[in-house]
Amino acid sequence: MSDRLIRGRTLSFRRRPEGPSDLGALAYEEDGALLIREGRIVASGPFDCARGLPIDDHRGHLVLPGLIDAHLHMPQMRVMASWGTELLDWLSRYTFPEEARCVDPAHAARMARAFFDSTLRNGTTTVAAFCTSHPASAEAFFTESARRGLRVIGGKVMMDQGAPEALLDTADRAHDETEALIRRWHGVGRAEVGITPRFAITSSPAQLAAAGALAAAHPSCPVQTHLSENHAEVALAARLHPNAPDYFGIYEAHGLAGPRSLFGHCLHLTERERAAMAETGSVAVFCPTSNLFLGSGLFDMAGLEAAGLRTAIATDIGGGTSPSLLRTLAEAYKVLALQGQRMDPLTAFWRATRGNAEALGLGNRIGSLEPGIEADVVVLDPRATPEMALRHETVESLAEELFLLQTLGDDRAVRAVYAAGEPLLPAP
Ligand code: GUN
Ligand code: ZN
Repeated sequence: MSDRLIRGRTLSFRRRPEGPSDLGALAYEEDGALLIREGRIVASGPFDCARGLPIDDHRGHLVLPGLIDAHLHMPQMRVMASWGTELLDWLSRYTFPEEARCVDPAHAARMARAFFDSTLRNGTTTVAAFCTSHPASAEAFFTESARRGLRVIGGKVMMDQGAPEALLDTADRAHDETEALIRRWHGVGRAEVGITPRFAITSSPAQLAAAGALAAAHPSCPVQTHLSENHAEVALAARLHPNAPDYFGIYEAHGLAGPRSLFGHCLHLTERERAAMAETGSVAVFCPTSNLFLGSGLFDMAGLEAAGLRTAIATDIGGGTSPSLLRTLAEAYKVLALQGQRMDPLTAFWRATRGNAEALGLGNRIGSLEPGIEADVVVLDPRATPEMALRHETVESLAEELFLLQTLGDDRAVRAVYAAGEPLLPAP
């Protein structure tokens, strides 16, 4: 692999910004360059001379770390835009029947291809994704991500109750299939296997215990699940697990809380749950388009962070309605505005890059443009559409420009994508 120079307006975050004028949090070069060698960034700074290297010239466009999606479902590409239900009905009417089709490895492979085509076209280079309960769906996911050289977290869903027979495994089978997946893919190339009990509704206590045993035996594996998304779900979880103090307590009791544990949604948490999540370093994942679409509720970012929780942001395809993290930031802004909270644009882009990398425990590998970091890069055009170009005429600061990108941008704003230094978009 030869060296490559990417030239453009390089922008990444040294730390979390404290507000829209906290430029000290940024590493920004108006005419900057990244030197890429063997899949990593080896230098970044002002463009000076090319020293005979091949240059990818993106002058005028923003060169950022690849975007990171902290929670979504690979087999749900065709579940997006399913009408008229809340969570539990949506799962049984639309989601479970569609996931059942992944029993066919050819279908799973087709969905995996469509999934990564979509995430990459939207500038997302890392996902933390749920597959289905079929090992073949996880195999399709990892095969496809490896083919494209992507850093990913993925997991075979564990579910042994409360769903159609065609999707159910057992506590033992889910344990053994997840362990086999870990042996086959965890730490191979850029893949990590997540231990993935779907949620406390579809896992028996025995299966949650099996998931906890896996987490204890494989501490380098992340854990991903759902928590407190919908009132009917919270009530059902309490009925199914009567000995737990609350919903989060179910996961805690089975050894599934911790700094590498990602909990999708977290909309209706009690004070005790917030305190316990903070104490264990568990991550609450904000899924704004999904929460709006399913009418689930409003994520209380300020309240959760004041309680000391770590947070991340995600599309949650296919409850979510867009694979674009730009669209997701736009909806996040509105969800928070409804609660009198304002997410500034620097913090928004920190969340979609370094913030999510740190939440996933991958901050030493991805999420910035610092030397040593893996060269996952997205190039964004802030004038991508006529409306964006017109609005851009009155933009006076980088923060305003980022807000324009998140509010009006989508896949049309994604000009190029690199994974481990290799150009994936436009297709080579
Ligand atoms: N809870 C359990 N499974 C799911 C899922 O597939 N999507 C969402 N949004 N919530 C869930
Ligand atoms: Zn989900």
